[in-house]
Amino acid sequence: MTRRKPMEGCCLGIESTADDFSVGIATFNGEILANIISAYMPPEGGIHPREAARHHAENASKVLEEAFKKAGIKPKDLSVIAFSQGPGLGPCLRTGATVARALASYLGVQLVGVNHCVAHIEIGKLKNDAEDPVTLYVSGGNTMVAAFDAGRYRVFGETLDIALGNCLDVFAREAGLRQKPGEPFGAIVEKLARNGRRLIPLPYTVKGMDMSFSGLLTASINMLKKGDLKLEDLCYSLQETAFSMVVEVTERALAHTEKKEVLLTGGVAANRRLQEMVRSIAEEHDARFCTVPKEFAVDNGAMIAWAGVLAFTHGVTTPIDESFVKLRWRLEEVEVPWVK
Ligand code: ATP
Ligand code: FE2
Repeated sequence: MTRRKPMEGCCLGIESTADDFSVGIATFNGEILANIISAYMPPEGGIHPREAARHHAENASKVLEEAFKKAGIKPKDLSVIAFSQGPGLGPCLRTGATVARALASYLGVQLVGVNHCVAHIEIGKLKNDAEDPVTLYVSGGNTMVAAFDAGRYRVFGETLDIALGNCLDVFAREAGLRQKPGEPFGAIVEKLARNGRRLIPLPYTVKGMDMSFSGLLTASINMLKKGDLKLEDLCYSLQETAFSMVVEVTERALAHTEKKEVLLTGGVAANRRLQEMVRSIAEEHDARFCTVPKEFAVDNGAMIAWAGVLAFTHGVTTPIDESFVKLRWRLEEVEVPWVK
């Protein structure tokens, strides 16, 4: 193992909001030294928070060890420990927080509780050298359009019910699609959609700047069950409808804020069709289209480590007795003094 001492300091970040347990290590100058992700795969159906939390507890030491090995540093080289404090599933968040508290007190370093959504935005900015994007964050548990204004990231629009990724996943499960190990349902829908030709009218629900996907999901499942439509056409229509909704809201946020960058992130950002649609509205508004490699778009420890660096170097830390997890911690509640 080559050992290198980070010049200024470095932060270890723990991510455990949902079905992934991940540890990342970032230096104070934005180098990502490690990003190890261990995904919990439910035997069938959706994720069960307590089963996922058990996976996190069982894998924590192995993932930590791998991260140190990959980074080529020792625990005592760390300057600060960050963890995802919310929003997310209670049992999962608590497992990550417990590991973080134990590490911080053992090493005698400060702790930083990071907002998961802030972290997605910050790693996207880091990886794209972006300064001030409108962000579209779409995953299995989140769907939001956000941008910085007056000290905080503001939510311009969000889902009123289920997340876009969840809509795709439930549809795929109802259609009886089978996953290969590590293959997300969204990617299977994407593949089928490529061979779809016919656009079937489906419920399109944007209310103000907010979106709703549950009616779209129900209608898609009902059409599926009727059995007289091609699955490829349904996948295509579901994608076109759902993506048009998020893109409409993103475009309005872009027009309103006149920002010059659009960042697409979250697990669903891997979708080529969605990338193409977001790229095209970015171009229409003379904004730069940015997205991130999958490793940094899905839930990952590196984004928590990097957000931890930003917070810590701007004087934000979390005393142990204030490090309780916040299941519904909203993005706009967080002050981000490092953004000007
Ligand atoms: P979060 O906790 O942020 O809500 P998550 O636990 O849902 O995240 P992610 O890995 O960020 O985890 O996102 C997973 C989602 O991304 C799933 O709904 C999955 O189907 C979807 N997804 C992955 N690849 C694609 C793709 N190519 N097209 C569409 N959706 C995709
Ligand atoms: Fe996430």
